[in-house]
Amino acid sequence: MKAKIIAVVNQKGGAGKTTVAMQMAGSLCRRGYKVMVVDADAQGTSMRWAASASDKKPFPATVVGLNAAQGKLHREVRKFAGDYQFIIIDAPPAADSPVTLSALTVTDLALVPIIPSPPDMWASIGIKRAIDDASEFNEKLQSRLVINQCQPNTSLARDALDLLSDFGIAMAKSRLHQRTVYRQCAAFGQTVHDFGGKAAPAIREVEDLVDEVMALLD
Ligand SMILES: Nc1ncnc2c1ncn2[C@@H]1O[C@H](COP(=O)(O)OP(=O)(O)O)[C@@H](O)[C@H]1O
Ligand SMILES: [Mg+2]
Repeated sequence: MKAKIIAVVNQKGGAGKTTVAMQMAGSLCRRGYKVMVVDADAQGTSMRWAASASDKKPFPATVVGLNAAQGKLHREVRKFAGDYQFIIIDAPPAADSPVTLSALTVTDLALVPIIPSPPDMWASIGIKRAIDDASEFNEKLQSRLVINQCQPNTSLARDALDLLSDFGIAMAKSRLHQRTVYRQCAAFGQTVHDFGGKAAPAIREVEDLVDEVMALLD
């Protein structure tokens, strides 16, 4: 087993890194893969998310906190590569931190969740630079923007989506929309898949994103 490594990165806090990392982990586990989430953010949100699950229904992926490894994160991650099929790194909100830069050196696919609003876009320029720099040494590194908290029927979002097409990182076709169920998941240590029929649109968009990611990593 040699894990495919996905890093969810953006210097902007609140863009949806932890959400994307944990929902994708839930989906991949349901597909039968062995998945580890690396919580590389000192805030420990994905660790807390997993810890909020009930004993009866634990979070399906292994979640480990590796923020302390700092610039040596890549070495720690490599140690697990033989034991998992997917490793998803939930990065801190920083483009130039040793943790993010270290993560990008071992990553196959960098996902950049971004909320389509101008301040969020302005704040995300640095992560593009970090990915470009990492690509010079990590030739396998691919990247995609993942539009999050999308509200497609607003003119502001439409304008923002237009601008993002020139961001310099290709946009994933799949988008996550703004939905209450995404907020509920963390509280219960679950993913949208556990919320049944009322979460069907959320499940569909998470599954579409994972399909797209699997095709990129194939
Ligand atoms: N698509 C969404 N719809 C509704 N709420 C969302 C969505 N994505 C994220 N959130 C909420 O926004 C907040 C920030 O998301 P989070 O994933 O923690 O971002 P980050 O890890 O980038 O800081 C959380 O409260 C989360 O539940
Ligand atoms: Mg987070």
